[in-house]
Amino acid sequence: MTFDARRARADFPIFNRRVNGKPLSYLDNAATTQKPGTVIKALTAYYERHNANIHRGVHTLAEEAERLVEESRAKAARFINAAKPENMVFTRNTTEAINLVAHGWARKHMKAGTEVLVTELEHHSNLVPWQLLARDRGVRLRQVPVDAQGRVTVEAARRTITPKTRLFAFSAMSNALGTLTPVKELVDVAHQNGSLALVDGAQRVPHLKTDVQAWGCDFLAFSGHKMLGPTGVGFLYGKPEVLETMDPFLGGGGMINEVWFERSTWGPVPQRFEAGTPAIADCAAFGAAVDYLEACGLEAVHAHEMALTAKLLEILRAEEGVTVYGPTDIAERGGVVSFNIAGVHPHDVGQLFDSEGVAVRVGHHCCQPLMRKLQTGGTARASVYLYNTEDDIEAFARGLKKVISFFKVGAKA
Ligand code: ALA
Repeated sequence: MTFDARRARADFPIFNRRVNGKPLSYLDNAATTQKPGTVIKALTAYYERHNANIHRGVHTLAEEAERLVEESRAKAARFINAAKPENMVFTRNTTEAINLVAHGWARKHMKAGTEVLVTELEHHSNLVPWQLLARDRGVRLRQVPVDAQGRVTVEAARRTITPKTRLFAFSAMSNALGTLTPVKELVDVAHQNGSLALVDGAQRVPHLKTDVQAWGCDFLAFSGHKMLGPTGVGFLYGKPEVLETMDPFLGGGGMINEVWFERSTWGPVPQRFEAGTPAIADCAAFGAAVDYLEACGLEAVHAHEMALTAKLLEILRAEEGVTVYGPTDIAERGGVVSFNIAGVHPHDVGQLFDSEGVAVRVGHHCCQPLMRKLQTGGTARASVYLYNTEDDIEAFARGLKKVISFFKVGAKA
């Protein structure tokens, strides 16, 4: 069954507005996604009817607020096929989830001389926390090289991992190039070499069915705002036996068992990692995003996204002077397309697209080492989601023509 993106689009109030006099063609979904009316209503309903602090009160509102937050946790668990809601730690975002592993697990279990392995694809959020660990603990940071198409192969991972590797932390899908990585195989490489595996799922979980039990990963980090949910909500999934061995990252209310003046004991997982008042409204409303995605069906959504991605690639590849980055085979990509136009700065590309109502991201995409490898300072990037339609692709094609004619790309000097 084909996915009805036009109908979905009508569920998102933001598409009632215009940008520079044009309908909004939002192609910046890898950065964040728009919110359906149901998520916005869930946020409002929370504040209008249920607002209270959680884990602290026995009154009706506190119990209602807590139930909403715990329902969201359970929906997140179901969405990635975690065995139990207790395997899911609420964080603010993917970055915080990865930092929680760096502080709670790596600082406790990794000694000087052991290694964290990443790949050359990583977002700064899966690189900088390990740099800080290396600086403070004498841990060595190493990377699996990508090939000329920005792919991570199992062979390259096997060649790079060593007996000293304790953690292999890698992206399931590149935010900069759209590359899908062979997650299950990379997790197996980690385990065969005595290492744990952390998967950065920020770009993949919102688009493709995720099954942490089939992958066998020890950790999975992802963000709610990239899957139609509010900002301020992310998750760290962890295998229970691994989460149990971790120290808290933040200390404070809600994460303790008993506190004396000199010392404290920790509460159970996952509350051990959730000190302080969380983003209760956002956590509560996140459940409505999962409901929306489940009603759409991720398989249908993904097929729709890939049909649009194929069109974007065709439009870009037809133009002289355009470089498209990432895998040439669309089967090795998600719905992210990074490109450059000869002689035109990506920021100028972004501004001319914006004049057509088309939102794309430009710059280094928080992947400066990868940009250096590609020998560019940055790219323009279009990324699709379920509410994008053929009209958005046509607007993108108009934007591209505008850039090419404005900068006379391909014209002889
Ligand atoms: N990580 C987000 C992006 O790639 C912000 O745009």
